[in-house]
Amino acid sequence: MKHQVMKLLYHFLWVAFLVSCSSNQNKQEKISSVKEIDTLPLSKKWEFAIPNQEVPKGLVSLKAKDCGACHQEHYEEWLYSTHSHAWTDMQFQAELKKKTSPFMCINCHIPLQNQQEYIITGLINGDIYQPVKHINPQFDVELQKEGINCASCHVRDGYVIGPLGNTNAPHPVKKDTKHLSEQLCISCHNAAAVVTPTLVCSFETGDEWKSGPYNGKKNCISCHMQTISRPLVKGFPLRKSHRHYFAGSGIPKVDTAKTKMLNGLVYSSPKIVRLSNDSIKVQFTVTNANAGHRVPTGDPERYILTHVSIINIKSKKLKAQKIFRIGEKWKWHPKAQKIFDNNLDPLESRVYEVIFNVNKKEESNYRLHIKATKCRSTLKSKEYNKLPDSYPICVDFLDKEYSIK
Ligand code: HEC
Ligand code: HEC
Ligand code: HEC
Ligand code: HEC
Ligand code: HEC
Repeated sequence: MKHQVMKLLYHFLWVAFLVSCSSNQNKQEKISSVKEIDTLPLSKKWEFAIPNQEVPKGLVSLKAKDCGACHQEHYEEWLYSTHSHAWTDMQFQAELKKKTSPFMCINCHIPLQNQQEYIITGLINGDIYQPVKHINPQFDVELQKEGINCASCHVRDGYVIGPLGNTNAPHPVKKDTKHLSEQLCISCHNAAAVVTPTLVCSFETGDEWKSGPYNGKKNCISCHMQTISRPLVKGFPLRKSHRHYFAGSGIPKVDTAKTKMLNGLVYSSPKIVRLSNDSIKVQFTVTNANAGHRVPTGDPERYILTHVSIINIKSKKLKAQKIFRIGEKWKWHPKAQKIFDNNLDPLESRVYEVIFNVNKKEESNYRLHIKATKCRSTLKSKEYNKLPDSYPICVDFLDKEYSIK
């Protein structure tokens, strides 16, 4: 039976109107032709949007802004998150416009069908670049701009899904702690698929967590949504609540908007050893002490740079520098392939060593400087995507100076 399902392919009549662009073309080409096309049903999880949702009774819309009329703090926190920029982000918009980006790119960035202009019902000849599209009568462009909003996670089948179920809400509530578990996060934060030879989805935060030391102890929600006690709406009683900043790398999406930062990596104080009259050795350890997955995780373009420098105290000039990179390297053509990966596993430590030429007599003229930066893309790809200078791709998270003596 399961083979039958897999082989299920139905035919439908494809009416193609050949419209000529050039007036010189043969008139006969304008006659409509009728062709038979194989349409394959969607089969992979990320090929689907969450079906159109109705507004729960007692509410005016599905928009975060309207939830925010009552849940003011949740709303303000969510505005900081990259979830609220998942559609408007300039890098995402630039990548989406590329011919190589298939329709399903949007299913994790604007997950509700109500946020999408078209309903996709199948693929012509099973080709992801030829989806069968139907106009969505419930499309709401304002809802689209909100990216991953409250309703993406909380609204299903006319109910607001909540973790408590004993509140005095003016909207129908369904308690479902299984839905609001780390499984919800993983439904978007894990993908390993070869879509085409040059298009590979590879971000496996969910699998990294599952196979790591935190599974059963801490999960996406306990680390990324801090537990606090507060009223869910002004004037209501104190309840167990969670911050909705979805703090992560802290790399902002817009130069004017901040996101909250978490740091996975802990740097030990450097040990400076004099090797000879002319040289010193600097040694320090970097540990992924706080993240429940690898660092960096997610998008394969992310990386972390550690700049270790010797600086002249008076002139502020750089005397010597060594840069260490943590991240993956990929080759995209002719076939996507990971060629390098030194991301740090949860709780993994790595020792770094650098030898610098610093004369003993002059050592008081110099200081050791350690600076670390997180980036989610390279300058090259920023240029390629024609993003403005003001668009942030990196953020510093460590900046310290030490005496050499
Ligand atoms: C008119 C005000 C109002 C609006 C608008 C509103 N809520 Fe609520 N909501 C409340 C009140 C009041 C409570 C209960 C507070 C309490 O008793 O602690 C509540 C409770 C909740 C709960 C907790 C439910 C539980 O018991 O587990 C969630 C989750 C929630 N709302 C989400 C939303 C979302 C998402 C939206 C927008 C789609 C929304 N709310 C819109 C007033 C509102
Ligand atoms: C990415 C998913 C996600 C988004 C987006 C989201 N929430 Fe939540 N929310 C959760 C999860 C998960 C919990 C439950 C955490 C738990 O109890 O373990 C929760 C809990 C809540 C609660 C119950 C009390 C609390 O704070 O734990 C309220 C109220 C709530 N959210 C309102 C909102 C509102 C309003 C928005 C939009 C401004 C929003 N949420 C956006 C995932 C989300
Ligand atoms: C509907 C899909 C979806 C769900 C569900 C979802 N996320 Fe996300 N999340 C995304 C996308 C897409 C982004 C990136 C948005 C961007 O960069 O513009 C993101 C970004 C993040 C970031 C910020 C990453 C950074 O660079 O700092 C964190 C942290 C995060 N999500 C945690 C969570 C947690 C925790 C949950 C579960 C409560 C969750 N997400 C549920 C899709 C989702
Ligand atoms: C033990 C705590 C912990 C757990 C569990 C955890 N995270 Fe994280 N997460 C972090 C920390 C800390 C960072 C910041 C890493 C950094 O940038 O240094 C982070 C960063 C991220 C980022 C941003 C990407 C990056 O490299 O900075 C995403 C996305 C994310 N987490 C999603 C998730 C999801 C999804 C889960 C559940 C499968 C999860 N996290 C579980 C602590 C945790
Ligand atoms: C299975 C869900 C899913 C699909 C499908 C998906 N994304 Fe994402 N996308 C995410 C998540 C989760 C993040 C944020 C965290 C991370 O880096 O893993 C993200 C982040 C991004 C970012 C920001 C990168 C960064 O490091 O902050 C861009 C740009 C992006 N996606 C583009 C795309 C494009 C283009 C497609 C289609 C080829 C696509 N996405 C399909 C889930 C998805």
